[in-house]
Amino acid sequence: MKEKILITGAAGFIGSNLAVRLVKEGYQVAGIDNLAYGLRENVPAGVEFHESDIRDRSIYGLFKGVDAVFHLAAKNCISDCQADPLETADINVTGTVNVFEAARRAGVRKIIYAESSALYEGSGLLPTPESAVQPESFYAVSKLAGMHFAEAYKRYYGTTFTALRYFCVYGPIQDYRRTIPPVMSAFIIKLLKGERPIIYGKGDKRRDFVYVDDINDFHLLCLRDSRTDNETYNLGSGENVSVLEIYEIIARLLGVRVEPEFKPDLPGEAQMTLAEISKASALGWKPKTDLETGLLRAVDYIKSEMAAGRI
Ligand SMILES: NC(=O)c1ccc[n+]([C@@H]2O[C@H](COP(=O)([O-])OP(=O)(O)OC[C@H]3O[C@@H](n4cnc5c(N)ncnc54)[C@H](O)[C@@H]3O)[C@@H](O)[C@H]2O)c1
Repeated sequence: MKEKILITGAAGFIGSNLAVRLVKEGYQVAGIDNLAYGLRENVPAGVEFHESDIRDRSIYGLFKGVDAVFHLAAKNCISDCQADPLETADINVTGTVNVFEAARRAGVRKIIYAESSALYEGSGLLPTPESAVQPESFYAVSKLAGMHFAEAYKRYYGTTFTALRYFCVYGPIQDYRRTIPPVMSAFIIKLLKGERPIIYGKGDKRRDFVYVDDINDFHLLCLRDSRTDNETYNLGSGENVSVLEIYEIIARLLGVRVEPEFKPDLPGEAQMTLAEISKASALGWKPKTDLETGLLRAVDYIKSEMAAGRI
């Protein structure tokens, strides 16, 4: 019998894509999500799903018999976190410690958890290595607190962790419903509707995008390769593109051109992200999906949501 894996944030973008992959690989999969941002229908068949809040101590029982945990649940839209630092701390710090504590008490062998490239906001070092931690925004600071708690759990309880610093992950099921949707989904939706896409700032901000299936390859490595124990990895593509370039590529792929509308910059957004990925690559991991292939799959997802009348 394969291991039992518990995913927090299982109804969200990365969590639900991971659940699909783990079920396919034959793992027993359980998921927790309070559906604050995620949707129940994102959770694939075959997953034991619990609608629960990671801040609630009643989740401890759900960790019994679990071999490894992916802790992905978070309040993670930077502008939402800037608007509500208290809830950011409540979910991303208290909730994270509650998950670590639940896993420790249940004797879970490993916790793989999401940090973020936002930890490098103030660094200016490009491409950015794992050592360049300099958070600025409330979101990033809450992720840093999670990191320090993980270190204390290692120190005092010998808990085993892998920390993942995702750059801009994209692909199907990415949440397009939030106040400020992720840039790719936002552009695809607006262009398919023949409306003007909104660009915050001049469109010259550059982001390192990485496709969600490539991230899942690394997730599996974390379960199977003990070299990842107690290590931290950047997960990006090692290349970046500007927001305007993304707009141009999507407009070309869709064969639709509607001029974008420019609005003032959003608070807390970095000018540029670019991952130094040599540490993850040294384990044999490589992002395989090129931007156009990944974008076409994201387009198919948005089109299917439109066809179902959800957009
Ligand atoms: N997507 C990215 O590009 C990216 C980049 C860097 C870091 N991350 C991190 O990766 C993780 C997953 O991100 P995602 O893009 O899948 O986000 P997401 O918002 O799609 O998923 C997060 C899920 O957590 C759930 N959640 C929030 N608060 C909760 C609570 N109190 N109790 C239980 N569930 C709760 C939400 O309902 C949602 O389904 C997050 O920790 C995020 O900070 C993501």
